[in-house]
Amino acid sequence: MIRASITGIVLLFSYLTVQAGAMSTPRLNYILHCQGCHLADGAGTPEKVPALKQEVGRFLEVEGGREFLIQVPGTSQSALTDSEVADVLNWILDNFSREQLPVDFIPYTTEEITHFRRPLANVNAVRNKLVAQISKTETDTVLK
Ligand code: HEC
Repeated sequence: MIRASITGIVLLFSYLTVQAGAMSTPRLNYILHCQGCHLADGAGTPEKVPALKQEVGRFLEVEGGREFLIQVPGTSQSALTDSEVADVLNWILDNFSREQLPVDFIPYTTEEITHFRRPLANVNAVRNKLVAQISKTETDTVLK
């Protein structure tokens, strides 16, 4: 009886370990560290948390946008290591905003995160400037 229970527990643990292993680390880190605000599908909450879904890749169209995604507080001040930040950003871009990614997009590397990772003092000002540049770039492209 006791032996059967122990076997059951061992089997349960093996099952859970396999399940956790099947979930990629960046996805797991997104769930643990980002999803609370950005939501499971990256939709965010209007007026509070911007949507990553179908949006975040646009920042890569403009100068300074690439660094912004590293320096925004949610990323730069997270408990993740630089290598985990690189992986989670690449995962976010690939999963939520593939269609907005520039064709020549090069994934983030750990070295790049280490180089640029520091919190922004004036997030809103930097973000507003970038968003304005993005709208301009996209309008120019449409008009061309
Ligand atoms: C406490 C809520 C919160 C958490 C947790 C959070 N974010 Fe954010 N995130 C925001 C808000 C709010 C913004 C808009 C800029 C700002 O005000 O910081 C944002 C902006 C961003 C942006 C830029 C997109 C844009 O439109 O501004 C990225 C990229 C991002 N977050 C990634 C992450 C990642 C990666 C994590 C997890 C490691 C994370 N965030 C965790 C709230 C959060």
